Amino acid sequence: MRKPVVIGNRKMHGTQAEARALAAGVRDGLKRKPPVSVVVCPPFTALPVVAQTIANSAIELGAQNCHWDPSGAHTGEIAIPMLAELGCRWVLVGHSERRKEMGETDEQINRKVQAVLSHALVPVLCVGETAEERRQGLTFTTVEGQLRAGLAGLTADGLAKVVLAYEPVWAIGTGVNATPAQAGEVHGYVRGLVSELSSKEVAQTVPILYGGSVKADNAESLMAEPEIDGALVGGASLKAPEFIAIVKKAAASSGAVREGRR
Ligand code: PGA
Repeated sequence: MRKPVVIGNRKMHGTQAEARALAAGVRDGLKRKPPVSVVVCPPFTALPVVAQTIANSAIELGAQNCHWDPSGAHTGEIAIPMLAELGCRWVLVGHSERRKEMGETDEQINRKVQAVLSHALVPVLCVGETAEERRQGLTFTTVEGQLRAGLAGLTADGLAKVVLAYEPVWAIGTGVNATPAQAGEVHGYVRGLVSELSSKEVAQTVPILYGGSVKADNAESLMAEPEIDGALVGGASLKAPEFIAIVKKAAASSGAVREGRR
């Protein structure tokens, strides 16, 4: 049984004071530890203050990006040991906004995935097709290419430590989420590919999250899909009550798995 994962990707939002207030809101709303891994990824500048705020709570800290080298002449970049020092255990890798705006390549993304694993943090590899690719029937081709390249060189043991996020680009920040059926279809495909790249057993343990306009009112139907193991949440993670509501839906979906209803 896979434990659900809900990650708040705060993107480029929030001063330290705002980040502290938001993290405190989530912490106070989740006093009882849910059966869900809850991760918040604030901007780099807010990592220390958020780390302090969520200390000794059920919430874990993540970063939105990293460099693959442990140190070096990379102006403006942040190394994984710097993130680990602040208490980050999770790192988003290959978000479509970085692929598009920063020109991140699959090869760079693969180096990041490998580097995050080598520091014993959890890489959350993001993949997904554009609207045009979907229109042309290239959804599976795109996702397959991104996964094969992003996971290249990983052993089955390495793959077992990765979290994947399917985020169709057309659904991110648009308010138009993939339907549960659309997402479920791609998630099933992704799990099949992971099985091919590792083993059926490993593929059964890898959490595959959905991201793209997840909100409190669509989270339940998305997470009712058996292959959807949680959510990567952007806009809706900026308001504590909404994010907490999504975590609670994920917790309910995990109860449904336990009871054989999903
Ligand atoms: P969204 O973003 O929830 O605002 O669509 C999701 C993401 O980019 O991770």
